[in-house]
Amino acid sequence: EQLKGAVTFEHVSFRYPGMSTYVLKDISFHIRPGETVAILGSTGAGKSSILQLIPRLYDPTEGAVYVDGMNLKDVKMDDLRKRIGFTPQESILFSGTVEENLAWGKSDATLSEMKAAAQDAQIHETITDLKDGYETKLGQKGINLSGGQKQRLSVARALIRKPNILILDDSTSALDLQTESKVLDAIDKYKCTLFIVTQKLSTAKRADKIMLIDDGKIIEEGTHDQLMNTSTLYREIAYS
Ligand code: CTP
Repeated sequence: EQLKGAVTFEHVSFRYPGMSTYVLKDISFHIRPGETVAILGSTGAGKSSILQLIPRLYDPTEGAVYVDGMNLKDVKMDDLRKRIGFTPQESILFSGTVEENLAWGKSDATLSEMKAAAQDAQIHETITDLKDGYETKLGQKGINLSGGQKQRLSVARALIRKPNILILDDSTSALDLQTESKVLDAIDKYKCTLFIVTQKLSTAKRADKIMLIDDGKIIEEGTHDQLMNTSTLYREIAYS
């Protein structure tokens, strides 16, 4: 099935319910299965708003979004959840065990699946170092995870379902370059389509497509090499 992992936006405009201003304005793009897309842009540019439309947290006000070749309007939410791994900007962890947190949204996940995903997200060793390993309760006194550890746990949770499409909304920002690169190398093996919001040039360089977002629009699009040649704005970002 060659459309597994394809994502298309067709003239998508969007405003949040009850708001009069459009935060996305006529966005169109087509991503082929397995491509890595780096999304760059300043605060408030619309990066999260674009990504939230893929798992259907919101529907476009105008235009259409297609996943795996299907208009999202025709896809059942349960079905969509199986296809997409999404880690929002703020990691959503609750005060259960590490295991419970990892299995959230996929209750049939086995321990070995969790461990494999945790290894890929570079968090397995941190977990085994905790007092009760995978059974350690999070949020319990004395067990505070760092921002980067929370992000890696969220990435592991998303990987467990082996998604066709993985969306990392600023979910690797707290990782050092080397750790992020290991996580991305592991994600490569999943052969999924990857959307990653990043400020790191090293991450943008690996992408098949970079999208520069500003004021709700895609203002530049291309690979690192292309944009270095054609985009003054991208060069400014690259050298900053
Ligand atoms: N916005 C809104 N209501 C929300 C979320 C966002 O009105 N529930 C607005 C923001 O104020 C902003 C615009 O939508 O003007 C785009 O926001 P967002 O998509 O979050 O921009 P990002 O590029 O993701 O910004 P950041 O890097 O800060 O996350």
